[in-house]
Amino acid sequence: MESGYMKIAEKSEIPIGKMKKVVSQGKEILIANVNGSFYAIGNICTHSGGDLSQGTLEGNLVTCPKHKSKFDVTTGKVVSPPKMGLFHPKIQDEQSYIVKIENDDILIKI
Ligand code: FES
Repeated sequence: MESGYMKIAEKSEIPIGKMKKVVSQGKEILIANVNGSFYAIGNICTHSGGDLSQGTLEGNLVTCPKHKSKFDVTTGKVVSPPKMGLFHPKIQDEQSYIVKIENDDILIKI
């Protein structure tokens, strides 16, 4: 295994269109399978701590289960802010991790 990378899951655990939360070195990381490619971003919503792995994944967009903000799992960027009535607070992007696949292993750069 190349140094600087750490195994966090196996491909077979995450079918196309699904997500999984892993905890690594005290950080919650969301891994998503978008059409057979794997992406990793922070799992805790930057708005108010929603668990993104409990939200929904449509294509490359994950929707937070709490107030429906959307993040692009390929970049971690906010695509749509939380929906709280007329109030749409601005929120931070998620951290995005570099992913590498080795056989069935999903590695992220740490
Ligand atoms: S906690 Fe995610 S949108 Fe509010």
